[in-house]
Amino acid sequence: MSPHAARRARLLAQMEPGSVAVLFTAPEVLRNGDSDYLYRYDSSFHYLTGFGEPEAVLVLAAPSQSILFCREKNQEREIWEGRRHGPEAAREAFGFDAAYPISALDEQMAKLLANVPTLYSASGRSEKHDAQLRKWLDSVRAQSRSGVTAPSSLRDLVPLVDEMRLLKDAHEQSIMLRAGEISGAAHARAMRAAKPGMYEYELEAELLYEFRRRGAQYPAYTPIVASGENSCILHYNMNNRRMQDGDLVLIDAGCELDGYASDITRTWPVNGKFSGPQRTLYELVLAAQQAAFGAIEPGKPYSAMHEAAVRVLAQGILDLGLIARNRAATADDVITNKLHLPFYMHGTGHWLGMDVHDSGAYRDLTQAGKPSRPLQAGMAVTVEPGIYVRPAQGVPEEYWNIGIRIEDDVIVSDNGYTLLSGSAPKAIADIEALMRDTA
Ligand code: GLY
Ligand code: MN
Ligand code: MN
Repeated sequence: MSPHAARRARLLAQMEPGSVAVLFTAPEVLRNGDSDYLYRYDSSFHYLTGFGEPEAVLVLAAPSQSILFCREKNQEREIWEGRRHGPEAAREAFGFDAAYPISALDEQMAKLLANVPTLYSASGRSEKHDAQLRKWLDSVRAQSRSGVTAPSSLRDLVPLVDEMRLLKDAHEQSIMLRAGEISGAAHARAMRAAKPGMYEYELEAELLYEFRRRGAQYPAYTPIVASGENSCILHYNMNNRRMQDGDLVLIDAGCELDGYASDITRTWPVNGKFSGPQRTLYELVLAAQQAAFGAIEPGKPYSAMHEAAVRVLAQGILDLGLIARNRAATADDVITNKLHLPFYMHGTGHWLGMDVHDSGAYRDLTQAGKPSRPLQAGMAVTVEPGIYVRPAQGVPEEYWNIGIRIEDDVIVSDNGYTLLSGSAPKAIADIEALMRDTA
């Protein structure tokens, strides 16, 4: 059984007896004129099907039926737009029990929903799909004189699939390991290529080249190549500044491989040698990341790694005089009064998977107070502390405009975690040696 078929079987086993679930893939989106954005399927749809074409719908009918609706073969359209499986070949290749042309969806759904008590769907995401769902329900209700009943219970499919996606199976873990390797190699390539006087986009080009050269299909998100003061803009992605001798460059970039994202940040000197203040802040962020790693093991709450990183950063912010001593005496004072927020304003991580910020709840919604949920083996998470020092009165000038983030990807294992992004150099000595040897 394929991994996708196994996931469908696991989802079917969680559905109410006799119920039906419907899931649309993502629509195509116009970018300009008659040119679309590069097509990307819906992650949950692909997780359950492995099927990457647009205009497709998955229907699951408990206890065991899985049905695909997809585009028909069409010689003319295939000459212009590329190959299509068509229902028959798709059924065979992807292991569905039945497959129909997408044009038959309305007619078939009116039959498939007859006498079904519960319908699961991802409603609220697309007005068009919600309207289609209502139309199907209306057409089943219209058969009531002949004794047919329509679903009386409408349930949300999203949390069921999201929770499945949160725990990566072996197939997913092997893709994510490879995605991490490719992205790490791309970061190393950018380090080797960098010289003062280059533009940020030239480093972006090195990253994209390495992603594609190694078989990754896309960047998982728009790469951030932020040099000098741009490093203090969290989502900077203009990538058009000319880099100067003495600058740091913060690169946040990861590839998408076979539907799975990686998400890595490295920050290093364009000239290959950390200055004193750059080194000081870098070592602080690295220590914060080490503390966060120490909080990653099954059973520990998700929030522990953020708390560990913030504690180290708060102490460092105090020790380096970024906050005046009369405002806080201890790291606790800094944290209680949120004095670290001007320097560290984001979380220390997020779930990672088919989406860069992947699906799955961060809190245990079944418990009173909804506490942070315990980590479990199979969860993939980023570990990404940082520090961003903007020019401000009272802040030592030597640190102004230095922004540093260090981001790695891990999968929680039975006794700790597996690092996915180890191929991206990180220790100061390793970065400097790599850049020196290739200069
Ligand atoms: N690259 C997006 C993030 O780090 O969350
Ligand atoms: Mn991230
Ligand atoms: Mn990132």
